[in-house]
Amino acid sequence: MGILSKKTAFVASILACLIANLEAKAIPKPWLNKNLPEEKRVELLLKEMTLEEKIYQLNQLVKGSDKNENNVNMWYKSQKINPLNGSYLYASQSPEMRNAIQKMAIEQTRLGIPIIFGYDVIHGLKVISPMPLGQGASFNLDLVEQASATAAKESQRMGLDWTFAPMVDIAFDPRWGRIAEGYGEDPYITSRFGEATVYGLQGRNPLKDLPRPDKIGACLKHFVAYGASEGGRDYNFTAVTRNDLFNFYLPPFKAGVDAGAVTLMSAFNDLSGVPTSANYFTETEILRNQWGFDGFIVSDWGSVVQLINQGYAKNRSQAAKLALEAGTDMDMVDKVYIENLEKLVQNNELDVKVIDESVKRILRIKFRLGLFDNPYVKIYPKEERYYAKEDLAIARKLAEESFVLLENNNNTLPLKAKNIKTIALIGPAADDAVTMLGPWRGHAEPNKTPTLKDALEKQFADNIKIIYQKGCDYKKRNLNLDTEKLAEADVTIVCIGENGKPSSENNSRSGIYLEGDQNKLIQEVKKHSKKVVSLLFTARPLELETIKKNSDALMVTWYPGSEGANAIINVLFGKVAPSGKLTATFPRYVGQVPIHYNRRNCARTGGQGNYRDASTKPLYSFGTGKSYTTFKYSNLKLSNNEVSKGEKITATVTVTNTGNIDAKEAVIWYITDPYATITRPRKEVKFFEKKLVKAQESITYSFEIDPIKSFGYYDDNGKLILDKGEIILQVGNQKAKIMCK
Ligand code: BGC
Repeated sequence: MGILSKKTAFVASILACLIANLEAKAIPKPWLNKNLPEEKRVELLLKEMTLEEKIYQLNQLVKGSDKNENNVNMWYKSQKINPLNGSYLYASQSPEMRNAIQKMAIEQTRLGIPIIFGYDVIHGLKVISPMPLGQGASFNLDLVEQASATAAKESQRMGLDWTFAPMVDIAFDPRWGRIAEGYGEDPYITSRFGEATVYGLQGRNPLKDLPRPDKIGACLKHFVAYGASEGGRDYNFTAVTRNDLFNFYLPPFKAGVDAGAVTLMSAFNDLSGVPTSANYFTETEILRNQWGFDGFIVSDWGSVVQLINQGYAKNRSQAAKLALEAGTDMDMVDKVYIENLEKLVQNNELDVKVIDESVKRILRIKFRLGLFDNPYVKIYPKEERYYAKEDLAIARKLAEESFVLLENNNNTLPLKAKNIKTIALIGPAADDAVTMLGPWRGHAEPNKTPTLKDALEKQFADNIKIIYQKGCDYKKRNLNLDTEKLAEADVTIVCIGENGKPSSENNSRSGIYLEGDQNKLIQEVKKHSKKVVSLLFTARPLELETIKKNSDALMVTWYPGSEGANAIINVLFGKVAPSGKLTATFPRYVGQVPIHYNRRNCARTGGQGNYRDASTKPLYSFGTGKSYTTFKYSNLKLSNNEVSKGEKITATVTVTNTGNIDAKEAVIWYITDPYATITRPRKEVKFFEKKLVKAQESITYSFEIDPIKSFGYYDDNGKLILDKGEIILQVGNQKAKIMCK
């Protein structure tokens, strides 16, 4: 370009800006009137929009480099900003830049429609809480709500309006890496934790709370049955019966919608022949027509274009049409709507009303989030933005309550600091901050995350000698252990598992054994140590027989987050008693999968139908979790042992802490419906509650039974039905029969 033409181009761009500015100011914007109802504002704005402006609203691009492991292969460089885009997946950390981009949308576009900025804030942004599978094990809904509120506050301070969480996919297969991101194998538990997360992110009254400067929009994902991926292989086909769809996979989404979640994400899976990102039945008939969801659906990363790979669309244009018509309102990253929708409308292949509906849903949520009334985030001084002490304390408490004590032979734990002179600290996870944080760690800073080695050395600097040896890597066969140093120690703490990456997206495994030399490591450690305490860093069930055999105590610590190390010390040394319980079954061998607790009965009894060459019992079943004390359950009582639809009865049980240590106990109430019009799982969780029970104290736990909620189930048309007949209620070792009339 010559000097003259460069100058001309510059002047032309200034002029274009000025004109856009003038136009933006000239147009009356009645939708900015806060006193009008949300729907009216949406209508007023939609009326003014050109087809091009509408289609841009349906487009999400990436700003910043998305470093999440899942998308690394598709490294998206910062794209040039077009402020007409409806959304940015905002992978940058600068709230200032976000506001500058927003300013372009508000001041340099004709209608000034704000952009919605979203990012994956899965278990924290800076302050990281345990992986969701660990959060579920805590059975503490309050703490999860508080931790999600931390995530929302920090996200707003980074310029985010929206997160792609919670993941409420039920998963029965530990080979599927994303089992880590959900709350396990139970629909009731997943529903409650999904709901608590939505409350924490958005507030309990979304219409009132969402515009607050410490709240962001939630996104229930991945709609639906993504967790059923064939063979645990990510992105694969899912064969799901309608019975399972309605009774296992949909309920957590329904709970999240009822809690006010403003968005959902479609999924990658082909659901019994119709991919979920183009599934009219799930996206429109169920979600919108039956449940009344009025927010919007964003596709998963590239999932619209992937309809072609799945053999459902023959080209990009058809993929765009099928996805939009099914109900996927926003296309994540592929620009496939931008490229195709206008032409489809011109060729009469797509009704513009379909576009209008999707645009309305997106605008509605932008109004609900308060983006029109207050498009900018407050800029906090850098040192005040993140890592508040009180937020770290919440993350620590949640971690403490998430740990699951699987073995504790001869009361190895709690350790008594005064009796210990030397600790041998071994294993690849002992000094690894990244594994402490786990996958999907937002923008957390590993150098601000103490490892167990850091925390032990700090806390016991004056009185306990810590001898650290890595021993081996997670995956490599490189065992290297000085066993003489173990003999010196009063106790050996071994930190093993998977590094932060494998339990996550696109990280399916064919086996769930501990990789590398880790099993050998523990065998060597056991031979030369006085006492072995094994800590397992993972967020998927693993085969643990060798670890179990070679440990005096064994505790699953998951990926415990920013305060994981301090939480571990508090539990190991008895400041807090462990109280987590498994929400995902740990199989003995991978060949047992699927082995979830809520399976249906076998046709033949007496052990027939079992494996000929192996046990059919898991190593650690759903609900397993020891304490430093013991609890006795007694006196299960019902206010009435008969109940009709529309009535309620109360079940109570006495729980006694028979030991000498105060501890929390999560009481889990199950039902069995032994005979029904559609066969039911052998056992189903219907309620849980966690309370502190002081040493030697007895307290009462109660469960208010509403037959429809507690005994109802869905038929193949998604209709909730309640059978008459007997239901068995179970809590601990206590059982009672209830007649449903
Ligand atoms: C994942 C989603 C995630 C999205 C954006 C996808 O690959 O499946 O869970 O929200 O990427 O990062």
